[in-house]
Amino acid sequence: MTFVVTENCIKCKYTDCVDVCPVDCFHEGPNFLVIDPDECIDCTLCEPECPAQAIFSEDDLPDEQSEFLQINEELSRVWPVISEKKDALPDAEEWDGKTGKTPLLER
Ligand code: SF4
Ligand code: F3S
Repeated sequence: MTFVVTENCIKCKYTDCVDVCPVDCFHEGPNFLVIDPDECIDCTLCEPECPAQAIFSEDDLPDEQSEFLQINEELSRVWPVISEKKDALPDAEEWDGKTGKTPLLER
């Protein structure tokens, strides 16, 4: 099993999740973070830390977010590791909770 970052992280990228991960499995893109499924040890620590509630365990992934399992796997292969919290994106509060953000994911 793994944990998965889903749509609501896009254009928010609060990065609180990064601080609690014991195995540095978050990878950073321009406006989204992903989890490396091969590194995640299912510790559950990141899920409650996300202010945007964008992190789910693979088993609890909502049906409409299922494509993010593959997106996390694919982009964790190419994006660099992020191991320290940084400022959220400037308009994070405005974008938090908006739907239909998936096409805005920058690769
Ligand atoms: Fe890291 Fe644990 Fe979250 Fe997996 S569940 S991404 S190991 S904090
Ligand atoms: Fe994204 Fe939430 Fe982490 S918005 S960067 S998954 S704290």
